[in-house]
Amino acid sequence: MPQDQASSSIESVLHEDRHFPPPAGFAAQAHVGSMEQYEALHQRSLNDPEGFWAEEAERHHWFKPWEKVVEWDAPDAKWFVGGTTNLCYNAVDKQVADGFGSQTAIIWEAEPIDADGTPQVLHLTYSDLMRETAKFANVLKGQGVKKGDVVTIYMGMVPELAIAVLACARIGAPHSVIFGGFSAQAIKDRVEDGRSNIIITCDGSWRRGSVVPLKDNVDEACKQTDLVDTVIVVKRCENDTAWTEGRDAWYHDLMATATDDCPCEELDSEDLAFILYTSGSTGKPKGIMHTTGGYMVWTAMTSRLTFDLQPDEDDVYWCTADIGWITGHSYILYGILPNRVPTIMYEGGPNYPGADRFWDMVARHKVTKFYTAPTAIRAFMKWGDEHPRKHDLSSLKVLGTVGEPINPEAWMWYHKVIGHENCPIVDTWWQTETGGHMLTPLPGATTTTPGSCCRPMIGVDAAVVNSDGEPVGTNEGGILVIRKPWPGMLRGIYGDRDRYIDTYWSRFQDKGYYVPADGARVDDNGNFWIMGRIDDVIVVAGHNIGTMEVESAIVSHEATAEAAVVGYPHDVKGNALAAFIILKGDLPTPGSEEDLALKKNIRDHCGKELGPICKPDQVRFTEALPKTRSGKIMRRLLRDIAAGNEITQDVTTLEDKSIVEKLQASG
Ligand code: WT7
Repeated sequence: MPQDQASSSIESVLHEDRHFPPPAGFAAQAHVGSMEQYEALHQRSLNDPEGFWAEEAERHHWFKPWEKVVEWDAPDAKWFVGGTTNLCYNAVDKQVADGFGSQTAIIWEAEPIDADGTPQVLHLTYSDLMRETAKFANVLKGQGVKKGDVVTIYMGMVPELAIAVLACARIGAPHSVIFGGFSAQAIKDRVEDGRSNIIITCDGSWRRGSVVPLKDNVDEACKQTDLVDTVIVVKRCENDTAWTEGRDAWYHDLMATATDDCPCEELDSEDLAFILYTSGSTGKPKGIMHTTGGYMVWTAMTSRLTFDLQPDEDDVYWCTADIGWITGHSYILYGILPNRVPTIMYEGGPNYPGADRFWDMVARHKVTKFYTAPTAIRAFMKWGDEHPRKHDLSSLKVLGTVGEPINPEAWMWYHKVIGHENCPIVDTWWQTETGGHMLTPLPGATTTTPGSCCRPMIGVDAAVVNSDGEPVGTNEGGILVIRKPWPGMLRGIYGDRDRYIDTYWSRFQDKGYYVPADGARVDDNGNFWIMGRIDDVIVVAGHNIGTMEVESAIVSHEATAEAAVVGYPHDVKGNALAAFIILKGDLPTPGSEEDLALKKNIRDHCGKELGPICKPDQVRFTEALPKTRSGKIMRRLLRDIAAGNEITQDVTTLEDKSIVEKLQASG
């Protein structure tokens, strides 16, 4: 729908009155242990940002203190102005300096299962990590990398990836990490956009028992651009790779002669820390820029509060994301390491060799804080309860989710089957652009409700407004905005100032509001509900409907596993809804009695749950949904299929290309 229509009120139809207060024992020891404490902290952070953020920043090491906490000239923020610090120092060296060098920083687990029936596991201490990052920083310097040079990283989830990222931070060379699932074309585009002339990669990476040929993809990308003059290759899978003399070098060869003396570079708080590309729904990927001091303080604080990290209480933290995404940047490395809690890095797939791999790992490593995505949770639901039930999950204390709205059905499964009704669930809403959590429950304070990401993070001034920027009423849908700057906010789109302003700030330029482009509402408990991207709110016969609520209703039907709902043009109603549904069981024969009865049953179910207006006109059963590599449903593609249009979207990033034809045939 056109963006402007998101401003009129969106019917709020999803009825949810289940509430889960934090377990009393948990609240008693938590950093934030009550709603009163949360409210007080939140108020203070907004009323006295200078004082509040100065205290947070003092938890870190600064070579030179800041002169001013924040300078705000919308849309440009500077945090900890004049201060100098280093992200690698605070993640690693500081722990060694404080006497914790022998504690585990990273627990790495390989995907392959060795002959003895167990996978390889490595524990890297802070001292190990300091030595390795210093050595690799010297390797980079030896290759001519200087402060400010963009280093491209395209690797699997191996320890050398963490080392490479932190080594870049050590010398002030911004990294640009590209997820290992991307193609040669994606590498070429990002290398050129970032003007990067060095790539760190692996010969291959393990994914569900087979080798992804990373180095081949790099070679292919390098054929299409002449920017790259150095490729450093980690030997991981021992697959054959072509070799370009003078350009390619083995990581282990370079490390063999590197010294471990490389102090952390003193960086300005606003020096560029990294670029991370986010695809967005249209146009070429945007190189989101994050800087040093603010990002450091923001990711460390949000990690501590959202996961209630307790360094001296045997906490073991596991985020299942890949470091190629912002979730991995902020919540595997940069936010977690300064909190001195071991962070797990797992190399491979969730169902290798069996559908219980994650739960086996939780039990073996005694994971206390676990963070994953709704798409993974729904996959586990589909694979069956017997897999988690085989393992002792009693170490778990907090369960997190991120990336897309979690439907109440999946939330309840996570709560019961994984959390044994004993673990607060933190549904964290944020973006690549926000650097860290913006809306989330705090596990010791917030009473949660399935499907809601609850409250603004401390330091975040969030509101739901209409097209004039005025707050809408309770339960009225509107545009989510952030009204004040926060330390971890993006500082721009690399090389594209106009697009930065246009994308995030132009809508409420006079007010200086950040616009994430999500639709939302606030319920009568003050909890936020994300309704989907602004352009996923559909006007059907004059009613505004959030696709996410219809999806949640469909997935609450016993026969369904996952659903995507989109709008398509309709002569009478303006727009109509089409639902693409994955079933728990086998697909019925198309057109059979069983098929038609189930479709009718699901439509009626939506009518009952949400009201007749929300009954989808089209119901299509499918084996799979078209998703981007980051797991986001390709909605534009589904809209075209529902409307019977030609496909306008580039589908080269689809894993399974035959899915488009299957979907077209499903109508
Ligand atoms: C978009 C950002 C943040 C790291 C992973 C994705 C959606 C994210 C939630 C959530 C509902 C969510 C939003 C957001 N989203 N988390 N908990 N509930 N929606 O980062 O690729 O930058 O995507 O993901 O639409 O704007 P990203």
